[in-house]
Amino acid sequence: MTSDAREFWDGQAATFDQEPDHGLLDPEVRRAWADLLLPLVPPAPASVVDLGCGTGSLAVLLAQAGHAVSGVDLSGRMVRAAREKARVAAVPVDFTRGDAADPPCAPASFDVVLARHVLWALPDPGGALARWVRLLKPDGRLVLVEGRWSTGAGLPAERVRELVLGVREQAVVRHLTDPALWGRAVEDERYLVVSRS
Ligand SMILES: C[S@@+](CC[C@H](N)C(=O)[O-])C[C@H]1O[C@@H](n2cnc3c(N)ncnc32)[C@H](O)[C@@H]1O
Repeated sequence: MTSDAREFWDGQAATFDQEPDHGLLDPEVRRAWADLLLPLVPPAPASVVDLGCGTGSLAVLLAQAGHAVSGVDLSGRMVRAAREKARVAAVPVDFTRGDAADPPCAPASFDVVLARHVLWALPDPGGALARWVRLLKPDGRLVLVEGRWSTGAGLPAERVRELVLGVREQAVVRHLTDPALWGRAVEDERYLVVSRS
């Protein structure tokens, strides 16, 4: 974890939730993410870790559905915002400041490892994925949301599929074209990768 990355993401924290898919402040966008993610999680209370959880929007969404959620982020400001979001929502979420590339979590302890828009930002995504799958219980699942955005940042779906297949037997890609997820129509590549046991 570099201090440059931490400073960068600390600097994003105050305005991060202004993007519809970040803050989930629009009820339609929030519902679209709930409709996408909740069916991917085993019946509540499942244990879920949200790696690179940012301001905690997805972690809180899942905790509100009755799941036992932890979040890890390298940015102290993101973690503070996430804790405040969980406090306001009155749900217990255990947010920790730490490196998602090598999460401070016990092996084989989660039903779901979730990471949205994080893998692309890590220097060694394949190494991180190898550590993430070790956090899963034997029947656990990996749920990744990534993109190759019009800004040029990100990873193509095929690259993430290959990386996941380097550490798991299954990787199913679904392209996320529904404007309700993003609060607007999008033309760049946005997708979900799910790996079940
Ligand atoms: C684009 S944001 C996504 C936030 C959240 N997952 C979401 O979808 O709303 C990327 C997040 O990853 C975090 N991050 C980047 N590198 C990290 C690392 N090595 N360890 C932990 N968090 C990291 C940043 O602090 C930031 O909160």
